[in-house]
Amino acid sequence: MKARVLSGIQPTGSPHIGNYLGALKNWAKIQYDYESIYCIVDLHAITQYQAPAELRSRIVELAGMLLAIGIDPKHSTLVVQSSIPEHAELAWMLTCVTPVGWLERMTQYKAKIEALASAASETSIGDGMLQYPVLMAADILLYQAGIVPVGDDQRQHLELARDIAQRFNSLYGQELFVMPETHLPTVGARIMGLDDPKIKMSKSTAGSGHAVSLLDPPATIRKKIMRATTDSNPAVDFATMGSGVKNLLAIHQAFTGWDDAAMKTHFEGMRYGDLKKTVAESVVAAIEPIQQRYAEITADPGYIARVLQEGAERVTPLARDTVEKVKRCMGLYSR
Ligand code: TRP
Repeated sequence: MKARVLSGIQPTGSPHIGNYLGALKNWAKIQYDYESIYCIVDLHAITQYQAPAELRSRIVELAGMLLAIGIDPKHSTLVVQSSIPEHAELAWMLTCVTPVGWLERMTQYKAKIEALASAASETSIGDGMLQYPVLMAADILLYQAGIVPVGDDQRQHLELARDIAQRFNSLYGQELFVMPETHLPTVGARIMGLDDPKIKMSKSTAGSGHAVSLLDPPATIRKKIMRATTDSNPAVDFATMGSGVKNLLAIHQAFTGWDDAAMKTHFEGMRYGDLKKTVAESVVAAIEPIQQRYAEITADPGYIARVLQEGAERVTPLARDTVEKVKRCMGLYSR
């Protein structure tokens, strides 16, 4: 039997080249080696307010995009988290065995509340912000996934999922949960913001020059890359280049698959204007077929809904089975 993989992505903002190169491209690649479940985590998205109509359309857009980048519904299961009630159900049971101190120590939580507390428009921080990693643990443990490909920023949450599973198992005296692996396969390139190469490219960071969306038309892609932050050198110098130039080269390398030697030969000494033109063309060339598939997928109005329906049907028995076991274990009541 193939090992089970589970990963999740939030339906907020438009998926961008950082998501693609950092995670999604790898999802498509490993789907043939594992039994993969890819989850659109809308319940995670609402830990911060989302305009309902926009959230709804982002879910469908993201599903279409995952299909367009090569997630094959014959090999992988694509599912929307909120369509399977057992995610939230298991999350509650896990919440009750999770010490609040573990959650208050999470670095992503601390960073988020700090950022929100200093933003004048935010007056409250929802409890969901604190519970966020418990819901993520539920996603993983619900399907007894052994492998969870995530970026470095989610490693602490993955460790927490293991701690929660262990605590549950020891409290209730059963080896109920499969321990997810922490030794992760390398997931891909870490792409930084074009406007600020010190921070990871993010869907929630505002600013039109920050990220290249997978749905940006070629002219927009070119414009954004031509405006990317570089450094005070006039041309590429591998010995002294700053993080902006490094990031542009990383984007090119990830899209083309060139090795380090080829990169150095081609780009050493190249002026930044030419560097940006070259990178922009490699991005446009790589994204165009994705956009074409996206257009085909969305041209059939019922297709995405059918894929998501089939996905939900496929994983429902797994989810029910785990929740039933957990309920029995905890002494809860089943009809
Ligand atoms: N928290 C993850 C992120 O922001 C998304 C996520 C939710 C996830 N549930 C998951 C990732 C389960 C892996 C497994 O990237």
